[in-house]
Amino acid sequence: MTTLFQRLVMYLRETSQWKVPVISSMFRSKLPHWSSENISDQWFTDHFEGAAPIIHEWLNAEMEMPGASLLDFGCGDGITDLAIALKYRPKNMIGVDITSTFTNLNEIAARQIGLNRLPKNLSFQKIVPGQGLVHILKIDAIFTWSTFEHIERPHLDTVVADLFDLLPQGGLFFLQIEPLYYSPFGSHLGRFIKQPWAHLLLDEETLKRTVLEYSDDIPANEKEYNFYVRTFEEYKAFIYGEFLKLNKLTAEEVVDLFCGHGFKEIRKESYRVALPVPDILLEKYPEEDILTNEIRLLLQKP
Ligand SMILES: C[S@@+](CC[C@H](N)C(=O)[O-])C[C@H]1O[C@@H](n2cnc3c(N)ncnc32)[C@H](O)[C@@H]1O
Repeated sequence: MTTLFQRLVMYLRETSQWKVPVISSMFRSKLPHWSSENISDQWFTDHFEGAAPIIHEWLNAEMEMPGASLLDFGCGDGITDLAIALKYRPKNMIGVDITSTFTNLNEIAARQIGLNRLPKNLSFQKIVPGQGLVHILKIDAIFTWSTFEHIERPHLDTVVADLFDLLPQGGLFFLQIEPLYYSPFGSHLGRFIKQPWAHLLLDEETLKRTVLEYSDDIPANEKEYNFYVRTFEEYKAFIYGEFLKLNKLTAEEVVDLFCGHGFKEIRKESYRVALPVPDILLEKYPEEDILTNEIRLLLQKP
């Protein structure tokens, strides 16, 4: 027996001389129209075309992303979540963050990809640091991108325990951190100081002064919301303040943290930089920590 919808499609096939456009525009009408042809912003590209496909590749290898409910923990401006919602068709793409930067996504998406409304499967929620999510969200999988190095140490155990409880049995968690604290630009101050490991080599006073006295431009891939909503003086002070708050997790500590809360490691990739290390650093820190710049980790709740 044909459904009303199938009959409508058959009718359109029979009656329209522009068969393909009629059918495809019917399906497209469910998703807002967008195009990546005119993206002009490097930060947007790095998230929309860079981070999102990597997250998709890691999660989709082990689960069906279309139809799933996904959580992005520490979503920032939500560009990555927008890409996932539009490209990979999850049932729900939910971003949470302690800031509400994601409220600007409408405007950014209109400018970069010509989107006139955010997709219905995308939503955001502002949370407070360490807030439990287990009673307010129902999700199938979690990812987090460049966020876990910012979660203050006192909150780490609470957050990981809550995210573990939030997942169903077999649920996946993908994590990425770059740059890791002890790597050459792990301070996140590389936009102001080109010297590798400056944060481990200079005293705090010199480091702070170098940042605050910086007067050149910063790379396009660092220009995001926090850059545009502050004066340059305020922005430098803000990024320096963020450096002071980094939790300094190493790749090994990240794995131990999650496995200590019951997660099972499914896949891990870490990336090393090829730079000569000053002897003084080798005397103070493990070479592994100093050279490991990025970790990507797929975990599962058994
Ligand atoms: C470097 S940004 C990354 C944002 C986004 N994932 C991206 O790739 O652009 C780090 C984010 O972590 C968020 N964050 C810091 N501490 C947090 C916490 N305790 N809970 C949730 N988000 C947190 C910050 O507000 C910020 O948006």
